[in-house]
Amino acid sequence: MTIEIAQMTKSFGRTEVLRGIDLTVADGELVALLGPSGSGKTTLLKIIAGLEWPDAGRLAVDGADWLKLDPQDRRIGFVFQNYALFPHMTVRDNIAFGLTVRPRGERPSRADIARRVDELLGFLQIDALGDRHPAQLSGGQRQRVALGRALAIEPTVLLLDEPFGALDAAVRRDLRQWLRSVHDATGTTTIFVTHDQEEAFELADRVVVLDGGRIVQSGDAAAIHDAPASPFVANFMGATIELPVAVRGGRVDAAGIETDHLPSALPDGPARLFMRPEDLTPIPDPDGPWTIASVTNTGAHLRLVLADAAGTKIPADLRRRSPRAAQIAPGVRVHLRPEHASVFPAETA
Ligand SMILES: Nc1ncnc2c1ncn2[C@@H]1O[C@H](COP(=O)(O)OP(=O)(O)OP(=O)(O)O)[C@@H](O)[C@H]1O
Ligand SMILES: [Mg+2]
Repeated sequence: MTIEIAQMTKSFGRTEVLRGIDLTVADGELVALLGPSGSGKTTLLKIIAGLEWPDAGRLAVDGADWLKLDPQDRRIGFVFQNYALFPHMTVRDNIAFGLTVRPRGERPSRADIARRVDELLGFLQIDALGDRHPAQLSGGQRQRVALGRALAIEPTVLLLDEPFGALDAAVRRDLRQWLRSVHDATGTTTIFVTHDQEEAFELADRVVVLDGGRIVQSGDAAAIHDAPASPFVANFMGATIELPVAVRGGRVDAAGIETDHLPSALPDGPARLFMRPEDLTPIPDPDGPWTIASVTNTGAHLRLVLADAAGTKIPADLRRRSPRAAQIAPGVRVHLRPEHASVFPAETA
């Protein structure tokens, strides 16, 4: 199913929550909606599901106007963060729920429902859990069951709102890979909400970044990571170090930072340089303007804080086993080589 959203707006009272969303999701695509808290991600999903109505705009699925369609007729599969399974029902009954509540004419027979649930239990790799109750499951198992419940109805569209938000990092990683394989096997058009960039990049065909009710960038992981469209996106994608610099003759000019390999298409003038701590290599240099203020060992990395004479402090992460690490100690003077950086024009008042 192809989802087409055009010029969509939504306010709650005076708060504009969606400010003109244009988004097309192709049939079978898995799109991640990524954005900070309050950027409108859940509101957009709820409108697609028919749990909220927009003030203006268009929502069409395979060409049909969904704003004229009741929620139950959209046959959406929806999984929320901390999705409550029915505690008094077994896993089987939870998964079967959406089928058992269909009106009589559309309801599959008991035997067909049982067969469908069996299939899903196998497919979701939770065969052994069918007779348990939700309280007897781990968080990750519960989210698998919740997804089973959403898939049981053979949804037109699958909407997942931070389904793994409450789980620990290792379980999330497992579930991500598992969800990707489930998606590839079903081919269901899917929108996945997260505010974890790694999750979005690893899982999705395309990442759509939302800020303040607007789409600020849309593209694949590499495009958004390497060529953020704005300072907001750069910062949100982990380039949290911002330094004021200058552009001269197509090059970034910054004291104590090697920038020869970082061309800029910006015109001459003041600019803003954004870098990720893990992209910064400190290079010992008695004339370097940065001094290593502190070193913290996090296991795989050394987390450094670098300070200049003006008191500016920036973080840098260095692999602990890298050859450079041996030369790193508090008090050592360095200059910096960023493996990658983004440059934007300075803000004009
Ligand atoms: N029913 C409502 N009534 C009033 N305001 C609402 C309602 N639902 C959402 N909002 C407001 O709309 C804005 C966007 O909310 P939304 O839940 O879509 O954000 P989100 O991107 O999902 O955030 P999070 O990452 O925290 O879940 C917020 O400012 C929120 O307070
Ligand atoms: Mg939300």
